[in-house]
Amino acid sequence: MKMNANDERGILQYLRGVSDTEEAARMKGFVQHGHISTYQHVMNVVEMSCLLDRALHLHSDRKSLVRGAFLHDFYLYDWHDRSVHARLHGFRHPLTALTNARKRFVLSPKEENIIESHMWPLTLTHLPRCREAVVVCLADKICALYETVHRDKAMFR
Ligand SMILES: [Fe+2]
Ligand SMILES: [Fe+2]
Repeated sequence: MKMNANDERGILQYLRGVSDTEEAARMKGFVQHGHISTYQHVMNVVEMSCLLDRALHLHSDRKSLVRGAFLHDFYLYDWHDRSVHARLHGFRHPLTALTNARKRFVLSPKEENIIESHMWPLTLTHLPRCREAVVVCLADKICALYETVHRDKAMFR
């Protein structure tokens, strides 16, 4: 799959100051699915979200879409490490990610909704309430499935 130049420009612009932080560097050391790090996973979700937005002509707020997609798994631990935070990870990590992201960045209401609702319908009461949150919720599931099945194969480029 391939990004167009416009998508790539938007991603670079909106992730400045977000994907180049110390926390983002730590995400490169955490395993997400297969051999994919959490950092690579959130970048896949950013790109998939942009592709879906363009393919479905949704005209999302790109800044919130890109930042929310990058921060959706900003929980900052390795969920495979059972001794730490991994209990009920699936249910709890969206709110952990939201708490961490709020401490570090000023978030828009759309970005907050993207992060807290991305595991819906698992997290029943945290519904996607804007199109950007629906796109990321869907993109996350597509990427998780791809990363689990294909393990080492890069999704983009
Ligand atoms: Fe997640
Ligand atoms: Fe995710």
